[in-house]
Amino acid sequence: MTTRTRILTGITTTGTPHLGNYAGAIRPAILASRDSNADSFYFLADYHALIKCDDPLRIQRSRLEIAATWLAGGLDVDRVTFYRQSDIPEIPELTWLLTCVAAKGLLNRAHAYKASVDKNVETGEDPDAGITMGLYSYPVLMAADILMFNAHKVPVGRDQIQHVEMARDIGQRFNHLFGQGKEFFTMPEALIEESVATLPGLDGRKMSKSYDNTIPLFSSAKEMKDAISRIVTDSRAPGEAKDPDNSHLFTLFQAFATPAQADEFRSDLLQGLGWGEAKNRLFQLLDSELGESRERYNQLIERPADLEDILQHGAKKARAVATPFLNELREAVGLRSFVAQAQVAATTKKKAAKAARFVSFREDDGSFRFRLLAADGEQLLLSRHFADGKTAGQVTKQLQSGQPLDVRSEDLGFSVWLEGQCVGDSPAFADSAARDVAIEALRIALTPVQE
Ligand code: TRP
Repeated sequence: MTTRTRILTGITTTGTPHLGNYAGAIRPAILASRDSNADSFYFLADYHALIKCDDPLRIQRSRLEIAATWLAGGLDVDRVTFYRQSDIPEIPELTWLLTCVAAKGLLNRAHAYKASVDKNVETGEDPDAGITMGLYSYPVLMAADILMFNAHKVPVGRDQIQHVEMARDIGQRFNHLFGQGKEFFTMPEALIEESVATLPGLDGRKMSKSYDNTIPLFSSAKEMKDAISRIVTDSRAPGEAKDPDNSHLFTLFQAFATPAQADEFRSDLLQGLGWGEAKNRLFQLLDSELGESRERYNQLIERPADLEDILQHGAKKARAVATPFLNELREAVGLRSFVAQAQVAATTKKKAAKAARFVSFREDDGSFRFRLLAADGEQLLLSRHFADGKTAGQVTKQLQSGQPLDVRSEDLGFSVWLEGQCVGDSPAFADSAARDVAIEALRIALTPVQE
């Protein structure tokens, strides 16, 4: 069986996707998920959203909008596993297991945390002012997202590369501590799509909500038109030749055009197409590229119950992987059922009982004796002398009957008693610890096996 490449990425649900998010992350991810060799896990990182945002309405709105955006963009939920992080209780549980092996020093180096500390120091505040444990542990939660599904490739922006590296580090530590030669976690790799355009915003800087220079994605045509009208251009008048290579309006056009469309637009600009008309053409292009998806988006937003169903279905698929895997991990760290433990003890006893054996022999003086040997052949007990074989046999039977053993420790050995009579003695052991181990081995060897 060939394993398909597991691709996993999360989208923090704090905003409404804009054109830059679409071209830079959503569209390429949807295209990648159609590759028959890809097994894609895409999820709404809504636990991560809580780290950055304490406005419940905004969180809720954003989850809905982002889910609808991905589906409207053509994500096929039968092919990919599409879910909300907060619907997978195994994720916070794994986060804790990982937190317990993650080095604090590693997290001290996280860029986002360090930036907050640096800012506090600069402004003369307490270094930890306003810093939550959520922000500090952000990379551990992200490691759990990635390691839970043993992702091979993690498409992310450059700012997230460090987090993927930390996931490797933490996963490796866990493997080393608990794997006993088994690699529980696959080492993930960050995937940076060089070919994917970082779209410029209205002012030419990277399109980003924090610069307030975005073009909306699935809002009304009017809103999109209004945003486009605010794209900053140079002051060349209609008829004057424009420079496409230094125009972010052209860059935006190119990101959605076929090569032929882009060539035509370029030569028209060179020939003096006015900026007003150029903006009009950009609007026409975006509207024809995105109009159909916008329709689907609006329909989805109006049926939140259907979206809920789709995401619940995704959670089910994700948990079919996560639940058994987490059980394995719990087992590995020692969080095990006592029932299972009783079974393990029983099989150990069975083995010990099978392996331990009584060896009877006759002394020169005609008396009958026996030795009890442990699995490794070590002598645990040498019996006293019995007048006949029958008595010796009865003693071995009684010793194995399950009645409480009367074992009496002496200095470096012990003796075993039945009905007030000493029936056997141990050899002398090197120390009292060795003696106690032998007593335990004796008890196990003499415990009746329950089938
Ligand atoms: N931290 C990522 C971001 O802000 C979102 C995210 C959360 C993520 N968990 C992830 C990305 C797991 C990739 C894999 O972009």
